[in-house]
Amino acid sequence: MQAQEIRRKFLEFFKEKQHEIVPSAPLVVKNDPTLMFTNAGMNQFKDFFLGTKTPIYRRAADTQKCLRVSGKHNDLEEVGIDTYHHTMFEMLGNWSFGDYFKEEAIKWAWELLTEVYHLPKDRLYVTVFEGDDNDGLAADSEAANIWKKYIEEDRIILASKKDNFWEMGETGPCGPCSEIHIDLRSEEDLAKKGGKDLVNQDDPLVVEIWNLVFIQFNRMASGKLEKLPAAHIDTGMGFERLAMAIQKKKSNYDTDVFQPLIQFIAGKAGVTYGNDQKTDIAIRVISDHVRAVSFAIADGQLPSNNKAGYVIRRILRRAVRYGYTFLGFKAPFINEMVAVLTEQFADVFPEIKEQEEFISNVILNEEATFLKTLENGLSILNDLIQKNTGDKVIKGENAFELYDTFGFPYDLTALIARENGFDVDEAGFKVELEKQKTRSRNAQVSEKGDWIIVNDGDSVEFVGYEFLASEAKILRYRELKEKKGTVYQLVLDNTPFYAESGGQVGDIGYIESDGEKVSIIDTKKENDLIVHFTKKLPSNPEATFKCVVNVNKRKLTENNHSATHLLHAALKRVLGEHVQQKGSLVNEKVLRFDFSHYAKMTDEEIAEVEKIVNQKIRENISLDEKRNVPIEAAKGMGATALFGEKYGDFVRVITFDKEYSIELCGGTHVPATGKIGFLKIVSESSVAAGVRRIEAVTADEAEALVNANEQVLKQLDEILKNPKDLNKAVSSLLDERNQMQKELEKFRQKEINQLKDTLVQKGEDISGITAIISKVSLPNADALRKLSFDLKNKVNSLFMVIAAEIEGKPQIAVMLSEDVIENKGLDAVKIIRELAREIKGGGGGQPFYATAGGKDVSGLDNVVAKAKDFLN
Ligand code: ALA
Repeated sequence: MQAQEIRRKFLEFFKEKQHEIVPSAPLVVKNDPTLMFTNAGMNQFKDFFLGTKTPIYRRAADTQKCLRVSGKHNDLEEVGIDTYHHTMFEMLGNWSFGDYFKEEAIKWAWELLTEVYHLPKDRLYVTVFEGDDNDGLAADSEAANIWKKYIEEDRIILASKKDNFWEMGETGPCGPCSEIHIDLRSEEDLAKKGGKDLVNQDDPLVVEIWNLVFIQFNRMASGKLEKLPAAHIDTGMGFERLAMAIQKKKSNYDTDVFQPLIQFIAGKAGVTYGNDQKTDIAIRVISDHVRAVSFAIADGQLPSNNKAGYVIRRILRRAVRYGYTFLGFKAPFINEMVAVLTEQFADVFPEIKEQEEFISNVILNEEATFLKTLENGLSILNDLIQKNTGDKVIKGENAFELYDTFGFPYDLTALIARENGFDVDEAGFKVELEKQKTRSRNAQVSEKGDWIIVNDGDSVEFVGYEFLASEAKILRYRELKEKKGTVYQLVLDNTPFYAESGGQVGDIGYIESDGEKVSIIDTKKENDLIVHFTKKLPSNPEATFKCVVNVNKRKLTENNHSATHLLHAALKRVLGEHVQQKGSLVNEKVLRFDFSHYAKMTDEEIAEVEKIVNQKIRENISLDEKRNVPIEAAKGMGATALFGEKYGDFVRVITFDKEYSIELCGGTHVPATGKIGFLKIVSESSVAAGVRRIEAVTADEAEALVNANEQVLKQLDEILKNPKDLNKAVSSLLDERNQMQKELEKFRQKEINQLKDTLVQKGEDISGITAIISKVSLPNADALRKLSFDLKNKVNSLFMVIAAEIEGKPQIAVMLSEDVIENKGLDAVKIIRELAREIKGGGGGQPFYATAGGKDVSGLDNVVAKAKDFLN
């Protein structure tokens, strides 16, 4: 059974059992401070479990793109070394939201595995939670009893909290679980040792394939478990492992999920997969990592220097490094593999195909940059090895610098060191690593308290599309101790405050009760909660509050948000349909829009885009806002959906002229485009490979910008005494200046020639050497260089030291004729290093010519004296 069929059968099976088949959530998580990447199928349903949101269906199933490279679930270091862990993998899952429970979950899992996939029953084992005293939980005898209907009792294993109590993160939904394991070893191995003893023992051929979680609790920040209002089912089956089991392979990488990638890499490297442990690991690492990186980029996460972007960059670098070290790839190659993924995932995850060129461009660029870094790192390491003729130990801090700046893991440094007969100070390295960890821990936010419930209810209504003020009650609040001080987060039962999302910043304003006003300093989303930030807790949280949004900021922000939609559509018209939004920021001052495009925009293109947008503004197109549109219907209308954005089943559609701009958007907008007044593009620049950024202003800010520009022109006009044509006046001024520059040069040249003649005359003959040692004043460094070479051409057996003052700063030049170097064993570089001390500076060059700059001009006389002494 091919991978595609395995996936299809899973979805069909649960569809028949009345499950809604839902799309995978994006890999990159937004609005959840506890999570960077989707790490389990249930992430997108967290609010259903917690009861803060009600699903429209009670059963769902999907295949979810997951990434386990940070936080509680992190497998990165195992990946490639073993044969069954991955960074990015697909998790097949089925869910019940307060609907069916253990009985059905177990029955269906068994039915699918044994009757649809025909996995041999005598190779399966199941584990059941044995209970935990600390959490006050008893063993899950209910699950064990259900299992007994399907599997012999001695295949049911009790296991501890570590393996059989599943938690999403430090906090959040959790519950006891029951796992299904399979023994894929040969008959001979099975005869030697039963599979039961190998369950949960990290045997690559006795592995977990499916986890059935019985979600019943919420883990609080305090560590306590809180019982949830309802019990739910959350299951997750590793698609790649399932494929290994069904296809009777010994490794996930031997399935048709990975083979196309593996063969591509092996072919390109000219090796055979399966022949050599080291190259095999490298091939596995690369074939795994290209998937993680490509899917992350497709979902909008570009490699970068912080947070999620940095994690992606590190994964890609790990792949490059393995390729470089073990497969001899000295040039970029990973980008070429995106085409293989396009092919493989065209039917389930078309986001790769639709952005193939963009993804491979981003990867190509990262690879090229990192390969350079890698080479620099290698040369630094070689340097350290060459220079150290003493203890033959690479210092811990050097190893750490290589790790931190050049992406060299400790092992690589140690390997190269060993090859050269060196050791590495591992303890010192660890000290530096620990220091860095402490630094980043300290930089991290806050201690978070648990939510304090004030009023019952979890449903939060946003009324801010219609109203800028409302009456509300506080549902819950919590304290957040941050470095900058304590802030409070409040959740209201209804709110006019827009929470930061879709690029639009959160509203500010105040809430008021009994004459007490508390400022709202920001509003953000946390999953589906709208969280208001304050510096002070209202003295009576139980009161009813009047909630008022700062109208001015909101209106200016709306101008920029609607203008962003007009800009997006104009860019597509002018540059082409390949333009995809890659990021956006909208606040009261500016709009910033990042989009995929390969070249710098020309002035004409920018002008054209600006013109279209301003036309659309003047057309004063009315806002057409539709809420609760079924997602498929919205797409049918031609609405622009963004990759990597998580949309619900019902969406909001914002249209400004259905022939012009239709977008899925939750933001707030102007009632008609005329309100925007005017748009002015401020800059167009590059942010990453294939991603351009436009910054623009509208309304008041645009007016201020135009006025400021006009002011500059006016002032110029005045300075130039109101010329008829300002352009011409400035051009002719520049022409004149160039002319004068040329004449000045001639004049200077003459002076230098005179100086040269004087210096030649003053030259002293000391034992067959002509010594020219003098302090002079020169206009620039070029003159010093010219003078030095002129003297060299003119004078035989020259020993020259010029101590020059150039625009108040000291510079020295040393020039030696070849015969002086050879016969007297002199070296200009060594001489300059000595002399440079006198002017508190440093320099270098070649044996015949060296220069130095410094800070202390008063030392120039000493330079001359020292040079003379030296020669004597
Ligand atoms: N959420 C469970 C897991 O990730 C199914 O293992």
